[in-house]
Amino acid sequence: MTSNNNLDNALAWINLSGKVAHVTGGAKGIGKGIATALAMAGARVMVSDVNLEGAQAVAAEIGGAAMALDVTDRAAVDEAMTQTTEELGSLDILVNNAGVYIGYGGPVEQITDDMWKTLWSVNVDGVFYCCRAAATIMKAQGTGGRIINLASTQTVSPGVGVTYDGSKAAVAQMTKALALELAPHQINVNALAPGPTWVNEGNPPPVDGQTPVKTGDPLSDTVADRIARLPLGHWGDPMEQGKAAVFLASDMSAFVTGIYLPVDGGWLTL
Ligand SMILES: NC(=O)c1ccc[n+]([C@@H]2O[C@H](COP(=O)([O-])OP(=O)(O)OC[C@H]3O[C@@H](n4cnc5c(N)ncnc54)[C@H](O)[C@@H]3O)[C@@H](O)[C@H]2O)c1
Repeated sequence: MTSNNNLDNALAWINLSGKVAHVTGGAKGIGKGIATALAMAGARVMVSDVNLEGAQAVAAEIGGAAMALDVTDRAAVDEAMTQTTEELGSLDILVNNAGVYIGYGGPVEQITDDMWKTLWSVNVDGVFYCCRAAATIMKAQGTGGRIINLASTQTVSPGVGVTYDGSKAAVAQMTKALALELAPHQINVNALAPGPTWVNEGNPPPVDGQTPVKTGDPLSDTVADRIARLPLGHWGDPMEQGKAAVFLASDMSAFVTGIYLPVDGGWLTL
């Protein structure tokens, strides 16, 4: 075998041709990066979001399909996963990316019941609904599958507040429980845990070490400190999360299930 053949064989490990992926919350930010990277690796991608126009724009860019989906609506989730298989032929990869965090931080006495329930309905209920619907389809297909749940460095190292940090810890444990349950069906379930990733398209990330400004709030100041000292020295880019998603969606990670994979510029070493 020539070395070129070896390279072809190695590249085949990331080849997602013939696979269908559904990415929730894919209209912008990390979800857009993941949808783009999966499409670049050959997958046919269904981009869903509450923002249909945004999802359609991403789908047009990457040659995928788009649909409106609010992951908190369980009937709509069931319908969306079925529609993905009907439109694109199967459902092999689910990326539970939709999540909210801005405006839910605290302090704790200012977090209303409504804020708590709204965040958990997207970040936890939504992940559960999508996992349940996709696992049902993947088990029936009988060809294995991949489920990638977006956790966070906040899963293990708090910083955004009790509402968000708790929700991302739940996602990581749901991931492990489902990995164990679905392993006999060759459905690998893993959590991808981004560190600070710049999602404000059009505005470049602030100069490292100068932001964010400390406010005296212990939670946000911990985050500010760490961003300023981030070992790899720059904000993450959505495509860096996308590349890790390709790893978790492809043959590269065939023997990997139930893990929590930080993609965080070294955040968790601090
Ligand atoms: N950006 C970061 O630094 C970072 C770090 C750790 C984890 N994460 C996680 O990564 C994921 C994506 O984060 P992001 O920064 O790209 O967010 P973002 O706000 O840039 O994008 C989130 C997308 O999800 C969509 N969305 C929101 N609620 C929805 C719902 N109910 N149903 C369907 N779609 C919905 C939004 O319309 C938006 O397009 C989230 O789960 C977040 O918690 C982000």
